[in-house]
Amino acid sequence: ELRGVIALDGPSGTGKSTVARRLAVSLGAGYLDTGAMYRAVTLAVLRAGVATDDEHEVLTVAEHVDLRVSTDAEHQEILLGGENVGSEIRGQAVTLAVSAVSAVAPVRALLVARQMRIIDEVCEQRGGIVVEGRDIGTVVAPDAGLKVYLTASSDARARRRSLQDSASGREASFDEVKQDVDRRDRLDSGRAASPLQPADDAVWLDTTHLDLQGVLDEITALVDERD
Ligand code: C5P
Repeated sequence: ELRGVIALDGPSGTGKSTVARRLAVSLGAGYLDTGAMYRAVTLAVLRAGVATDDEHEVLTVAEHVDLRVSTDAEHQEILLGGENVGSEIRGQAVTLAVSAVSAVAPVRALLVARQMRIIDEVCEQRGGIVVEGRDIGTVVAPDAGLKVYLTASSDARARRRSLQDSASGREASFDEVKQDVDRRDRLDSGRAASPLQPADDAVWLDTTHLDLQGVLDEITALVDERD
């Protein structure tokens, strides 16, 4: 049984979400998808008709949003005003806008504070939690017992994202997906407010040539080493 926090960071298309959920289930731990929180706030911003570069209005939306996230890896649900928006937040409109919203420093401060509270609660209730995002090891959970930074070549990441998209009924060409993956990396890595960046004490894991089971095995070995 996991005690404490496992931080999983890295860009999109590294298999982070699938790995994080599977790991949480196998360790009997909680799970928090911080990207889903940024996506849900972005959906609220779009629905409010607010321009994503209007930082003041974006923050106002974020301050008033009624957001609830499930921390059960086997029952993922994200509620915006009580409505399950789990599939809408993965759509193109949100994906295009989310990097702009998540670059707004006070929006990050709000969400990071909520994430810290959720992590504390879950650790108290069930001992441990797997948290995935971009700034978990650096900002949200700097004391995490294990930090893993997932990478993969940009082609491999675009390929995984295309497969995921078509499995969920979102059709996009490989080139479009690759452009989006590269664009978000650039924005997420280049922003001033806690950019995507590995923690100094993170273990790097390149998933380009690993399948899901391979990644899980590597991380499970790291967890066992630390016990
Ligand atoms: O992980 P996912 O692809 O769903 O994240 C969507 C976006 O949310 C990222 O591209 C990034 O802009 C933002 N994000 C972030 N910090 C996190 C998690 C996600 O800025 N901890």
